[in-house]
Amino acid sequence: MFSFLNKNQSTGEVEELQLDEANIPAHVAIIMDGNGRWAQQRHLPRIAGHKQGMDTVKTVATAASHLGVKVLTLYAFSTENWKRPTAEVNYLMKLPVDFFGTFVPDLIKNNICVKVMGYTDKLPAATQKAVRDAIADTAHCTGMVLNFALNYGGRAEIVTAVQNLAEEVKAGRLDPAAIDEAAIDQRLMTADLADLRDPDLLIRTSGEERLSNFMLWQVAYSEFVFTQQHWPDFDQTALEQAIYEYQQRHRRFGGLTPAKG
Ligand code: FPP
Repeated sequence: MFSFLNKNQSTGEVEELQLDEANIPAHVAIIMDGNGRWAQQRHLPRIAGHKQGMDTVKTVATAASHLGVKVLTLYAFSTENWKRPTAEVNYLMKLPVDFFGTFVPDLIKNNICVKVMGYTDKLPAATQKAVRDAIADTAHCTGMVLNFALNYGGRAEIVTAVQNLAEEVKAGRLDPAAIDEAAIDQRLMTADLADLRDPDLLIRTSGEERLSNFMLWQVAYSEFVFTQQHWPDFDQTALEQAIYEYQQRHRRFGGLTPAKG
């Protein structure tokens, strides 16, 4: 049993809550929102929020790994984020360089393996190199997978999968009648996560309650938890609270019998 201290929202009292170790969500995906607002509230430039957000990634990845999460997918840059001012985009592109440049030894120490999904060939060369090196340096790690969505979009991912299927049909290698859910799963960017490809728990910080083009196919049966904290304020306790909320849900996957995560 993992226990943590939680402030009850209605009574204001601090209570000790227990997490069920046997029901830790195997795949947690997070839409890390609110960096800009966090900075704005402190009269800081938006990039200060992203910098703090990067430190939160370190804290949360370590905590998730200790809790027994098997895959942690983080939405770090979407295919739509290029619309932001150039200076902010440039800063966001530099973050993986700083993050992996300082954090890979800790990732290795925690047996965490880095993966990246997204159109990484469109990233600046230095970002691509940082990502490639981190994947190679942690390839031997057998613990949690830390999966960054970088230049990722759920619709684009589905379009690419459909194009690949169409090419295979055209080449005579695939019968259209053989296209089923598994065929699509195998052509999405989560294919190599195998049975862990679909998030059990999706968290979005900062009070917004939308998907913003994130893992549209994979979240079909995920449990959603929306939290009020801006991402830079998210921490181990916030993760534990979200997992606690997940553990109170009854997942039925369209059936009638509750099936525990
Ligand atoms: C959304 O907040 C956040 C992003 C678009 C960037 C997320 C990136 C990080 C948290 C750092 C990632 C770290 C690594 C290692 C790649 P927002 O800017 O939209 O916030 P706002 O809605 O308050 O403006």
